[in-house]
Amino acid sequence: MLIDSHAHLQDPQLLTELDAVLERAHRAGVEGIICAGYDLPSSYLAVELAQRYPGVWAAVGVHPGNLEGATPAVYDELTKLAKSEKVVAWGEIGLDYVNGIADRSLQQVALREQLSRAAALGLPVVIHDRESHADILALLQAAGPRERAGVMHCFSGSSEMARECIKLGYYISFAGPVTFKNARRVREVAVTIPPERLLCETDSPYLSPEPFRGKRNEPARVVHVAQVLADLFSTNLSAFAAQLKANTERLFALP
Ligand code: NI
Repeated sequence: MLIDSHAHLQDPQLLTELDAVLERAHRAGVEGIICAGYDLPSSYLAVELAQRYPGVWAAVGVHPGNLEGATPAVYDELTKLAKSEKVVAWGEIGLDYVNGIADRSLQQVALREQLSRAAALGLPVVIHDRESHADILALLQAAGPRERAGVMHCFSGSSEMARECIKLGYYISFAGPVTFKNARRVREVAVTIPPERLLCETDSPYLSPEPFRGKRNEPARVVHVAQVLADLFSTNLSAFAAQLKANTERLFALP
């Protein structure tokens, strides 16, 4: 039994056949899915799906690639939405120096704003970090430590960075890339994470794990991510899945 700690079920690639996607997840032993928003409309959809499907929970927030038009009014609306039933986190938010908006200082302002909104609500955050390790760590450190601070989603930093994030209250999550043949470095980092702070995810519809690399991803495939993590820790899938599931439940305070 596993939880996919990060998927975008509201993405049109999944939404158009959501019942089949959820059925396959269920059959694969995936009993929970955290559906992450990336702008205001996708956050509304995440909440709607969470309220419609048992086993689906929502995160609301604005991704660094979607900050055009992210006015204070948008954050106010997200704050209201975040109080809805089944919202368990604020995200995904962060810095993206590859696909984010060009103005990096604006990305940083938006991250600071959303970190403080989440902290005020007592919600963990879902952090997206692409080629922005030093800046993101500085911002998270400035925001200070918090119990259940959040998750470093699809982590690509070093083990030293992971250690600093863990000190601040973050969990470290791995997605499809940990399974890629040429991703030895990601696996070398993953194996240094204390098992009680590890999560697994798909980031569906993106980042399909091996042997589906390059194809549209879906939550059922989180099993392949968990299997690679179990192998790294030289344990079996069912024992490790129980640990990963317990970690996800603890971070997001799932019932
Ligand atoms: Ni994502």
